[in-house]
Amino acid sequence: MTCRTATAVPAASSLPFGHWLVSRGQRTEQALERVLPPATAHPMQLHEAMRYAVLGGGKRVRPLLVHAAGEALGAPAGALDCAACAVELVHAYSLVHDDLPCMDDDVLRRGRPTVHVRYGEALAMLVGDALQALAFEVLAAAPGHGASAAASAAMVAELARAAGSAGMAGGQAIDLASVGAALGREALEDMHRRKTGALLRASVRLGALCAPHAAATTAEARAYRTQALDGYADAIGLAFQVVDDILDVEGDATTLGKTAGKDAQRSKPTYVSALGLEAARRLAGQLREQAHAAIAPLGEAARRLGDLADLIVLRKA
Ligand code: IPE
Ligand code: IPE
Ligand code: MG
Ligand code: MG
Ligand code: MG
Repeated sequence: MTCRTATAVPAASSLPFGHWLVSRGQRTEQALERVLPPATAHPMQLHEAMRYAVLGGGKRVRPLLVHAAGEALGAPAGALDCAACAVELVHAYSLVHDDLPCMDDDVLRRGRPTVHVRYGEALAMLVGDALQALAFEVLAAAPGHGASAAASAAMVAELARAAGSAGMAGGQAIDLASVGAALGREALEDMHRRKTGALLRASVRLGALCAPHAAATTAEARAYRTQALDGYADAIGLAFQVVDDILDVEGDATTLGKTAGKDAQRSKPTYVSALGLEAARRLAGQLREQAHAAIAPLGEAARRLGDLADLIVLRKA
């Protein structure tokens, strides 16, 4: 199992954003392809279903955030590949479970039948379990790819917290318990920050953790940097789910690759149901501005993070 890719990485700042997206996207696809067990390995059906869940679709926003944050701080590309794979594997697992009949009961994901529709519920559950385990195996191997042992351990802890009961899994539990309820603004924000924001924040943090602590960097400078990145991650983390709620109302299955209108159909409390479409759109715009303001002190090095904030808020899928 290796997340190392053979491709050279052109400097982030020398590429137009569109080219950077393609370059880091391709890197991520290659790295995921490498870490996933081949479909020919025993037990074949589980491995085939894991590959189905991860490969061939998805915007790869979390891996892009890992790369953007890491590149802003001079992190080695190999370590970023590991971190990018790990967060995407946890994200893919969360989608497989989110779509199960006992959760959102969705039949379409990334333009294809969901994993449980294609492979059955029991295997879909195991796909999620195995993808989550693989994510941590990949992070544990990061020291072979340019990360320090300390950074690898810190990434494991960070991703575990983000995926666990205080983060994504906890947010999903609140989501399920809130069906039919009219959550107040604070409770809604709390749920969104956990179920979606936590993993996006972890993406930014893992990217930063891959960067070596240059001898010249003072503890004060590092704290300043961390504050900027966390402020950014908090804003885009919430914005991402606000936009997801908006797209569930405004989008269509062909563009989204998933069934639209499901939130209202299943009586989920969302930013649209709580505030209305216009106010939800305004909030997304404010969060985009907040994200830009947070990373302003990092200057040109954080340009890709700014570009990704725009992408997250302006996306149509
Ligand atoms: C969808 O995430 C689920 C949420 C957390 C809102 P994405 O919109 O990133 O899904 P993919 O990875 O592109 O399919
Ligand atoms: C999912 O939120 C958040 C996860 C942790 C997977 P949603 O249930 O709104 O995501 P979609 O709309 O199905 O992609
Ligand atoms: Mg859900
Ligand atoms: Mg869902
Ligand atoms: Mg949704």
